[in-house]
Amino acid sequence: MVELDLSDWEKVYKKINVKKLPWFNPKLDFDIQEGIEKYSIKKSSILNLGEGPGTQAIELTKLGFKVTASDISKNAIEKAKKLAIKKKVKIDFKVDDILDTKIRKKFDYISDRGCFHVLDPEQRETYIKNVHSLLNKKGYLFLKCFSHKEKSLKPYGFRPSEIEFYFKKFKILDIIETSFSIDKKKKKPLALFVIMKK
Ligand SMILES: C[S@@+](CC[C@H](N)C(=O)[O-])C[C@H]1O[C@@H](n2cnc3c(N)ncnc32)[C@H](O)[C@@H]1O
Repeated sequence: MVELDLSDWEKVYKKINVKKLPWFNPKLDFDIQEGIEKYSIKKSSILNLGEGPGTQAIELTKLGFKVTASDISKNAIEKAKKLAIKKKVKIDFKVDDILDTKIRKKFDYISDRGCFHVLDPEQRETYIKNVHSLLNKKGYLFLKCFSHKEKSLKPYGFRPSEIEFYFKKFKILDIIETSFSIDKKKKKPLALFVIMKK
């Protein structure tokens, strides 16, 4: 298992082969895939924030979404850009801190797989305010984060009631108890997948 210092994202992405990162998923996350199918989501603009290795952004582009992919780490964005070129897909990449976002465009969808749960508790309010303002009216937010039931590998984990508490600005449609596994049959690490609407 690789040792990770999550207080320095540049170092994480500079030193480590992204395929060795515990969150690396070469396929589209199965919860995101099912959320898109369940709500018959129209393939329009989506912001994939905290995009990391870029695999989720690439898979969303292949499905027909117009993807903007942002991450606080320049190294992550550079690696993801190379992968997108290799996969022959067009993505609008941005080095951007969601807590001080410079993105001025609005999106029909925002997808966050594993960014909210790495933020410190005092940063959550700013995150929610910024994500809310980056969404178009009636836009969807897909949020995947660790569950409070997961005892290993996590910065922060959440109870469904905490998600309801933090995301009061949104209408919560689903809170699904799930996992961060690549294979749906494997039940660990325990996660929540939340679908919300502005
Ligand atoms: C656990 S990783 C998940 C990466 C990616 N979403 C995936 O599923 O492969 C969390 C990501 O959030 C990014 N991140 C952390 N803080 C951020 C912030 N304030 N703004 C934007 N991205 C941030 C990190 O650089 C990292 O790539």
